[in-house]
Amino acid sequence: MQSLLTINNLCKNYRRSNSLFSSSLESAYKNINFSLQAGKTLSIIGESGSGKSTLVQTIAGLREQTTGNIYLNGKELTELTTQERCKSIRMLFHAPSNSLNPKATIGRILLAPLLLNSNLNAEQCDERIKKTLNLVGLLPDYLAFYPNMLSSIQQHQVALARAMVLEPDIIIADEILAGLDISLRFKIVNLLLKIQEKKA
Ligand SMILES: Nc1ncnc2c1ncn2[C@@H]1O[C@H](COP(=O)(O)OP(=O)(O)O)[C@@H](O)[C@H]1O
Ligand SMILES: [Mg+2]
Repeated sequence: MQSLLTINNLCKNYRRSNSLFSSSLESAYKNINFSLQAGKTLSIIGESGSGKSTLVQTIAGLREQTTGNIYLNGKELTELTTQERCKSIRMLFHAPSNSLNPKATIGRILLAPLLLNSNLNAEQCDERIKKTLNLVGLLPDYLAFYPNMLSSIQQHQVALARAMVLEPDIIIADEILAGLDISLRFKIVNLLLKIQEKKA
């Protein structure tokens, strides 16, 4: 069976300046190889500064690797258009309270990725947004709310809905549970597992 995501010998180098006239070549990560099947979860574990965020940002298309290849459904990522890439791979960031626009309603927050990366008409967008809200366990009433009117778990649900609204193949979560209390961590992990099960 073809893998959903294949990473081949991925390396990322960057130049670090040591003093005014000298710099050294450092690697953020090197020789990364793995493949991921659809419906599966992969955890990347490593100490702080070991290159996890740089690696996942490369996979999400926010940074470029120095060498190596990334294949999505057998097609090299560089062959995809930005729109195709944005639709296929979405990222969840730490602290949704910082990543949700405080001046936009939940409805507008969820509409933005559809306007940018899909060709759906107004009615189809509306339908997709309601379907996605239901997927993450929020009522349509929340569409008119602003992020600061929501609890912490609800903000995570909205961030997840924003990531899911384009029906991506891959969701990348970079330390989204850091700094949260244990019960909230359980709720978010359970929500992610439930969505993965529903989408399988
Ligand atoms: N382009 C770059 N310029 C300078 N430093 C970089 C660059 N890319 C990565 N790094 C460094 O590589 C290291 C890896 O960081 P990061 O990916 O955030 O690790 P982690 O998420 O595992 O904590 C950090 O020390 C970071 O500063
Ligand atoms: Mg990190």
